[in-house]
Amino acid sequence: MSRTIAVYPGSFDPIHNGHLDIIERCVPTFDEVVVAVLYNEQKRPLFPAEERVEMIRELLADKTRCRVESFSGLLVDFMDHLGARTVVRGLRAVSDFETEFQMALMNRRLNPRVETMFMMPREDYSYLSSRLVKEVYALGGGVDGLVPPSVIERLGRAMERRSGLRVASPAGGPEPGRVEPGAGGEGEA
Ligand code: PNS
Repeated sequence: MSRTIAVYPGSFDPIHNGHLDIIERCVPTFDEVVVAVLYNEQKRPLFPAEERVEMIRELLADKTRCRVESFSGLLVDFMDHLGARTVVRGLRAVSDFETEFQMALMNRRLNPRVETMFMMPREDYSYLSSRLVKEVYALGGGVDGLVPPSVIERLGRAMERRSGLRVASPAGGPEPGRVEPGAGGEGEA
């Protein structure tokens, strides 16, 4: 019997616990799960694709049946290249449905052998998105329990890189992640 390969594609800018929950759920169902990170630098992601891949690889280091790759171009072409037939996407709420429905049908039109499978993350993560994680962190809110600690560390560094301002770490001040004007970065380009 041929090996079943699932592709879990996304921007993962950054990966959060809802994504990790979906990966956990996929693993028992497929021989291999390929986490496919979209190379979308023109959209100015907070993390370059290489760093998104690196952080996910670190988090999945003990999962022998998972691998992490980046891709650009059409997802279905990347899947052909891997010999994969199943796309896995997380469905958090009804609001996700319309976009996901369009993507699934477009992918099927582009390659009729590709099927999309939806998985619901744990209820606690049903409101979670990478966009909200970045926004909350940048405004000084805590994101513990929503992203792994290694991602929180990287968020601070990435926001410093982008703004040229220092971002207080949870241990470094009362307001985790708050951008501190004048903390070493003011006036920098
Ligand atoms: O995490 P995201 O941003 O919701 O993931 C979106 C992603 C990467 C799954 C989607 O943008 C994608 O598959 N892009 C590749 C380009 C493509 O194949 N487009 C046509 C089919 S929708």
